[in-house]
Amino acid sequence: MNVKIDSLYKSFGNNHVVDNVSFAINDGELVTLLGPSGCGKTTVLRVLAGLEQPTSGTVRVGEKVFNDATHATPPHQRGIGMVFQSYALWPHRTVFENVSFPLEIRKLAASERASKIAQALKLVDLGELGHRYPHELSGGQQQRVALARAIAQQPTVLLLDEPLSNLDAKLREQMRGDLKALQQSLKLTMLYVTHDRLEALELSHRMAIMDHGKLVQMGTPDEIRENPVNDFVRHFIS
Ligand SMILES: Nc1ncnc2c1ncn2[C@@H]1O[C@H](COP(=O)(O)OP(=O)(O)O)[C@@H](O)[C@H]1O
Ligand SMILES: [Mg+2]
Repeated sequence: MNVKIDSLYKSFGNNHVVDNVSFAINDGELVTLLGPSGCGKTTVLRVLAGLEQPTSGTVRVGEKVFNDATHATPPHQRGIGMVFQSYALWPHRTVFENVSFPLEIRKLAASERASKIAQALKLVDLGELGHRYPHELSGGQQQRVALARAIAQQPTVLLLDEPLSNLDAKLREQMRGDLKALQQSLKLTMLYVTHDRLEALELSHRMAIMDHGKLVQMGTPDEIRENPVNDFVRHFIS
């Protein structure tokens, strides 16, 4: 589903962390938010997910306005999936139970849950490992469980916050390819946060570059490489 963020501001005290950010993501598009540490990427993602309330501005997914002056839709009613850098798996639950948990919260029947879990684990190549516990998995496999958990809910939008940062270089490269393939086969609408320009250049349909809370340029990797709007963008992507 398409996403539209309009005139978003977020301050923590006097710290203006997100400063008038507006952009849209088309249905089935993968947009990356790229910028240095502290520029406000995670905050934009958290506002979209409903984990943080904006100071002002609106967030829309499809026809639904999640946020305006009078109301905020709670996170679990937004149909948004999220994957974090830290995986955030429950250590005392098996792989199967980790993927199951959000579906239980949504009160899906056990049989429907089981088929969604099996399908999601298969998609991330973990079909045989449902009985394992997180500590019995490699870092890459743990991140795949987090991914399966997010896609099993069939989210309208998938948000990923530096999902590959804890993996070694070789695995990161492989997962990058896998994520891209998954995005294409499921036609998922994705917002992918990273500070890694190579990741952004390889994955993005379009990239949105942030600096000090502002969105300074948005375009395809080619457009941005060929026509950076300022020195910051030029240096950041080269
Ligand atoms: N809950 C919070 N309370 C106060 N300041 C915060 C909070 N969350 C983020 N910030 C500040 O907002 C700025 C942007 O943070 P963040 O969105 O995490 O940036 P990024 O993800 O680009 O590294 C930072 O200066 C950070 O310290
Ligand atoms: Mg961050």
